Amino acid sequence: MNTQAIMEISPIVPVIVLDDVDNALRLADALLEGGISIMEITLRTEAALASIEAIAKQMPQMHVGAGTVVNAAGYERAVDHGAQFVFSPGISTELMESSVRLNTPLIPGVATASEVMLAQNNGFAHCKLFPATVAGGVDALKAFSAPFGSMFFCPTGGVNLNNLNDFLSLKNVLCVGGSWIVPKEAIADKNFRHITQLCKEAFERIKQ
Ligand code: 3PG
Repeated sequence: MNTQAIMEISPIVPVIVLDDVDNALRLADALLEGGISIMEITLRTEAALASIEAIAKQMPQMHVGAGTVVNAAGYERAVDHGAQFVFSPGISTELMESSVRLNTPLIPGVATASEVMLAQNNGFAHCKLFPATVAGGVDALKAFSAPFGSMFFCPTGGVNLNNLNDFLSLKNVLCVGGSWIVPKEAIADKNFRHITQLCKEAFERIKQ
């Protein structure tokens, strides 16, 4: 699957922090039930890699990738555990080389024109805008569309129910990323029904 296809799986990419691998499959189920078949599991916790592995092995309907991948070592670990794609908050030659070497798609994070150029010049047409609302949000994406007409973005960082349509209505935005749809408290409380509900609420909002 290429980065275009990955960013077209769902208008919303949940950015997930999992503290307990036992919650991974139930969270995946809750998201599928809510209509979302992609997960970005951030490499911020001990449970992240095992969670990616469990989902990759046991839930073929779910597309699972790693987030917060910041170097080649993290990239390798993520791929070894079954990550089908990688998101990073930033962009570096090391990450782009890892993507080619490990034959696993990278969606690098960018926040400036120079970083978009670095991505574009290395053949990466799909980036995360991070941190989206701080890095200029909708205005920055509109401004990028003129010089970088063939680049597409997944704004992440500060996206929520109230601004997701502002982002999704832009031509150069294929999806948004966010943690609002997978609150840590709901996961800790095993309140997976709430997460399904948040997905449904977001899709209702997108339809409007
Ligand atoms: C992150 O890295 O945590 C993501 O950018 C999510 O940002 P958010 O919590 O503002 O959705």
